[in-house]
Amino acid sequence: MALSNRNPQPITIAQPKSPVSEAYRNVRTNIQFSTAVNGARTLMFTSSVPEEGKTSTATNVAVVSAQAGKRVLLVDADLRKPQVHHRFQVSNLDGLSTVLIRERSLEECVIASRVPNLFLVPSGPIPPNPSEMLSSRMFVDFLQHCADEYDLVMIDTPPVLSVTDALIVSRQTDGVVFVVNALKTNRNLARQAVAALEQVNARVLGVVLNRVQQRDRQYGYAYSYYYASEEKLSM
Ligand SMILES: Nc1ncnc2c1ncn2[C@@H]1O[C@H](COP(=O)(O)OP(=O)(O)OP(=O)(O)O)[C@@H](O)[C@H]1O
Ligand SMILES: [Mg+2]
Repeated sequence: MALSNRNPQPITIAQPKSPVSEAYRNVRTNIQFSTAVNGARTLMFTSSVPEEGKTSTATNVAVVSAQAGKRVLLVDADLRKPQVHHRFQVSNLDGLSTVLIRERSLEECVIASRVPNLFLVPSGPIPPNPSEMLSSRMFVDFLQHCADEYDLVMIDTPPVLSVTDALIVSRQTDGVVFVVNALKTNRNLARQAVAALEQVNARVLGVVLNRVQQRDRQYGYAYSYYYASEEKLSM
């Protein structure tokens, strides 16, 4: 069963005992190792190009991290194609964009999800100038405030090679989780995107190889791989 538009909720909520959910728990553990060493609290999820699984990874890792007892805030900083509100079926009337224009406070925008310990800040209405808003002092203050209030802040962003937003966000976050779609990601584009992140001094903590079939697992890339695959459930 693939995730469908009719049932957008994270698979770790819909099918917590599935092998895929187990894979996301492995991703969580790997991220915990990196963050424990580096003390990282604010983590962003990105990839080279669209539709590689950024949002799926961010939402599922946020769910399993909250289930492990952390107080987690999942922020939708994809102000172009926001999806977090859709995955959790919550309102998107207020969110990051309304905080950044000072219309709402962080507290007014946080939504408690159905998962204990997991809180959401949806994107809010799509603004005309996302890059400018994410470059603002308000965004820096917003993230600082989030990091003060939560154990882990997980941030969903657009792809690195499409717009500058992810690079801008990466400068304000402690670590980057880079998602690769094993079925279609172009190796050169992935390298280009990681190089762009490193050029702005982002700390790439690891790579999630999404859509890997169990039997096709391979090791040996320059970065540590985290694994998550829903392919086994596809029908
Ligand atoms: N491992 C997986 N198995 C099956 N379907 C998946 C998997 N990962 C993601 N998908 C599906 O692929 C589509 C794109 O995934 P997702 O929205 O997570 O990607 P994205 O990188 O956030 O995309 P965008 O660049 O548009 O923000 C979604 O329909 C999602 O349900
Ligand atoms: Mg997305």
